[in-house]
Amino acid sequence: MEKKHLLYEGRAKRVYATDDPELLIAAYKDSRGTAAVPGRGAVNNRVSVCLMQMLEREGIPTHLVEQRSDRETVIRRVHIIPLKVIIRNVAAGSLCTRIGLPEGTRLRSAILEYYYRSAALGDPMINRYHAFELQLCTPEELSVIDRYAFRINDILKPFLRGLGVDLIDCKLEFGRLPDGTIVLADEITPDTCRLWDAETGEKLDRDRFRRDPGRAKDVSEAILRRMTRGNFV
Ligand code: TMP
Repeated sequence: MEKKHLLYEGRAKRVYATDDPELLIAAYKDSRGTAAVPGRGAVNNRVSVCLMQMLEREGIPTHLVEQRSDRETVIRRVHIIPLKVIIRNVAAGSLCTRIGLPEGTRLRSAILEYYYRSAALGDPMINRYHAFELQLCTPEELSVIDRYAFRINDILKPFLRGLGVDLIDCKLEFGRLPDGTIVLADEITPDTCRLWDAETGEKLDRDRFRRDPGRAKDVSEAILRRMTRGNFV
C-alpha cells in the first residue's frame, strides 16, 4: 500500500491518505503538544494496536487494519463522530472538580460522559439530548456507542488488573464506516486513560506524563512489556 498526502495533523498523530480510498495511515508522533519524548509514538502505536486487537477478539469492531511499521498503523477511513466518550471507574480529574468527589473514590458503577469535540467551544460536556440536537449521531448509534463503551471498560479493566494496573478512566472515540457500522476509532494508550498501579496507587499515565514527560515512554514501555509478556500477543 502506498502512503499518499497528509490529510490531517493532530497533537498526537498525523493521518495520511493511501492509494486505497477506504484506508488511511495513522502515524504517531513523539510529542503531544508537549516536549517530544523519543520513542513515545512507537510505544503508543504498539499499545493501541495490542489493545484494539484484543477488543476485536472480544467482538468490538474497531478501525484497526494492521500495524505497518513501528509508528504507523493502517486504519479504515471512518467519519469520526465528534464526541469524546469518557468512562470512569474511580473519581479523578474533572469528575472531582465537577461534583466534589474526593480523588480515588471508587464509583458505585461506571460513569459514562460525553464531551462535544469543538475546539471553538472548548469541548464542553454534553448529554444525549444535546448530541441529538446537534445531529452528531442518531439515538440508535448512541445506544451502540454506550454499549461498546461499557463493554470495552469491562474488557480492559480485568485485563489491566492482571498486569497490576487499575483503569481509573478512559477516553474513547467512535467513527461510522461508509455502510453505517459504528467502530471504535482513534487510540487507547496511557495518554488517553488514567492508569494507577494497583498496589501502590502510583500514577502511570498522562497525569504523570504532564508532570514528568521524560518518564512517559518508560511507563508506556513497562505496560507494553507487561502486556506482551503474557500470552497476549
Ligand atoms: P478528565 O478527568 O480530564 O475529564 O479526563 C478523563 C479521562 O479522559 C482521562 O483518562 C483523560 C482522558 N481524556 C483524553 O484522553 N482527552 C481529552 O481531551 C480529555 C478531556 C480527557
